[in-house]
Order: sequence, then C-alpha cells, then structure tokens
Amino acid sequence: MITLEQCRARDQADELASLRQQFDLPEGTLYLDGNSLGAMPKDALARAQDVIRREWGVDLINSWNKNNWWVLPTRLGDLLAPLVGADAGEAIVTDTTSLNLFKVVANAVDIQRRGHPERKIILAERDAFPTDLYMLQGLAGILDQGYTLQLVDGPDDLGAAVTERTAVVVLSHVNYRTGYLYDMKTVDALVHAQGALAVWDLCHSIGAVPIDLKDADADFAVGCTYKYLNGGPGAPAMLWAHPRHRADFRQPLSGWWGHARPFDMATDYVPDPGIRSFLCGTQPIVSMSLVACGVGIFLQTDMEKVRRKSLALTDLFIQLVAQECAGQDLTLVTPLDHKYRGSHVSFRHPQGYAAVQALIARGVIGDYREPEIMRFGITPLYLRFADIWDAVQHLKAVLEGREWDRAEYRERGLVT
Ligand SMILES: Cc1ncc(COP(=O)(O)O)c(C=O)c1O
Repeated sequence: MITLEQCRARDQADELASLRQQFDLPEGTLYLDGNSLGAMPKDALARAQDVIRREWGVDLINSWNKNNWWVLPTRLGDLLAPLVGADAGEAIVTDTTSLNLFKVVANAVDIQRRGHPERKIILAERDAFPTDLYMLQGLAGILDQGYTLQLVDGPDDLGAAVTERTAVVVLSHVNYRTGYLYDMKTVDALVHAQGALAVWDLCHSIGAVPIDLKDADADFAVGCTYKYLNGGPGAPAMLWAHPRHRADFRQPLSGWWGHARPFDMATDYVPDPGIRSFLCGTQPIVSMSLVACGVGIFLQTDMEKVRRKSLALTDLFIQLVAQECAGQDLTLVTPLDHKYRGSHVSFRHPQGYAAVQALIARGVIGDYREPEIMRFGITPLYLRFADIWDAVQHLKAVLEGREWDRAEYRERGLVT
C-alpha cells in the first residue's frame, strides 16, 4: 500500500528536486502534459524581453552579426547535442519536425537512389504520429514512380518487413500514444543488416530518455524542442545527421540559408558542406532564442538521473492507479517493462475524452488521443512524487463520481 507520506519522503530525497524552482508553474495546477507542451522556464521571460527590446528594438538588423542570430541554429544544435549523443557540428535547430523529417528522408532516399536504385520502399509504422505519415506520403508522391510507403503494424512486424527492397525505415523512438520505447541500437542493427537507412523521430524521447544516436549507429534524427525540452510553443525543431553521410548531404528544400555562401547572391545553389545545408529560409529568431532556456536546465543534470526519476515517477503513477482506481475500466497501454517505456503513461478508458476534460477542470492537465487514450506526460525536472499522488486522487474522484458524464465535458475543442 503506497501512502502520501511515502511520496513526500521520496520528494525529500529527490536529487533533481531543486530544478523545479527554475520553472514558472501556475499555482494549483498539476501539469502532466509536458510531453505535448513543456512548462515555461523562468529565464524564458527575461530572454524574450531581451531579444525583443534590445536585440530587435535597439540593435535592429545589426543583430544578425552582433547578437549571433545568423549562427543561432547551429549554436543551439551544439548545445543540445549532448542530449542525443552527438558531437558539435552534427545537429541543428530549425523549422518544424514535419519539415525536418521531409528533408532527412529525402536525403536518405537520395543516398540510396545513387547506390542502390532498386531500393524503393520507405517503411514506417501505421501507428506513427500522423504528420510523419503525411510527410512521407507527400514525399513518395513527388519521387520517381515505383517508390512506395509501406506501413508495419508495430515493433513485432519490423524484423520481417525490412528487406533488400527497403530504402529507409522511419520510426518514432517513443510512440506518441502508447509510450512504447524502441531499443534504437537493436533496430539500427536490424535495419543496417538489410542495407537500409534508419531515420528516428525523437519528439517524445528527446529530454525524456537518454539517447545516444552515434552509439546506436542511427543515420538521421529529428525531434521537437517544445515538448520535454521546454522550448516554448511552436519552438523550432532539431535535426541530426550522422557525419558519415556529410559528403552526401542533399535535401530538396534548398533555400538560401543552406547555401555555402548565401551572401554571394549567386544564381545557382551550392549546399553548405556541413549541417547548415539542412537550413532553408529565415529562421524565427524570437522563438528560437528561447530554446536555450529549456535545454540549459537539462545541462545542469544528466539524462541518466532524469531517466531514473522518470521511471520512478511512471512506476508510481502506474502502481497508484492500480491501487486507487481498481475496477474503473482503465486499461494500461504503456509497457510495464522499463526497457520499452518512455516518459508518459497512457490508459484506455471508454470515456477517456470526457474524463480528461473533467481532470482539467480540477487543475490536472493531461491530454487525450484517439482512440480512448488518456495520456499523462511525466516530466522529472518539475514533477514531484506527491504531485503523482494528488493527480491519481483526482483521477479516482473523476471516475468514481462519473464526472465524465457531464455534458460540458463531452464537447470537443479544436485541440484535444
Ligand atoms: C512523434 C511526433 N512527431 C511530430 C510531431 C509534430 O511535429 P510538428 O512540430 O512539425 O508539428 C509530434 C507532435 O506531437 C509528434 O508527437
């Protein structure tokens, strides 16, 4: 039997507890949606004011040089590189995850086309976050005839699905719905054994689980900075490409920011020889400037500690739901095995949507994903063990009191 006192004692002993003070968290809110939009680092407000008042307002266009706006994408890439096992010069922050996925998959297909033109299959998971599938459908639509998008139903089907016809395999490191975590190293070995290239979507794993892209031998990766990394709403995404592909960096959105000498104003495109070749056009500097605030907090600790607390919190959440909400028609869809668990916990419930709205009305913010999935993001930098206790007490009250049955909680907002 787990008690509130035990949870409080764990907070006292928590090695990451002090990091919570670096976030601006609204009083009375239990925020379990940092896997969708991270909380606000306190530094972000001062940084936003500085970039708007001084850099834009006073230094004006001189800021491209004076305040290093031009090199911000690579500086941020270098800053977050340690979180993904990358070295300086290998990662960049730019555009959106959707766009970056398009760029790296197009690059991977192009590499294969030159060496192995018979490989015409792009493999992805049916259960991928839809934008990944939509971007791949769009890409397949403009590639030569014969390129197809093949969908697999899950990790168990992957082994048989990757063949000598596969060009690229695109997977989410952590599944956005279930929280399933792939063993990246094992999958990359499987993909490479068949001569295919591996592209990873890190949206639900960057800042949530330790990642070592080089050790795992991945080829390309993309991911959000506005979720676990707390970069701010719509903050630009990251992109990483293995340096072994550097001579072959070639992406179709060949805008002037990716040019080797953009201020030559030349007629012909010549790509930058490095990771900047993945840039396209002018970057959203205000939003981009805030990314360092969230990443900076991670750099005060290490991902092994974050992972330890994440697993302790998700274990606690799962155990408390079993203890407090037994008989409430909740089905855990997140793996129990630590090896395959990311940092969010999802339950299926027939009234999942309305139950999440009832929780939000109580100040417990999670979210809902079709079909019937109640999703709770566990962010070790600012969540306490006692928060998990409180959240589960609210969940129990919502379910036992059938609060989901109220008409106001059934109305769907534009965003669920
Ligand atoms: C796995 C995954 N990929 C991509 C995205 C979104 O990409 P974008 O930032 O381009 O909207 C999300 C957003 O939730 C996601 O969960």
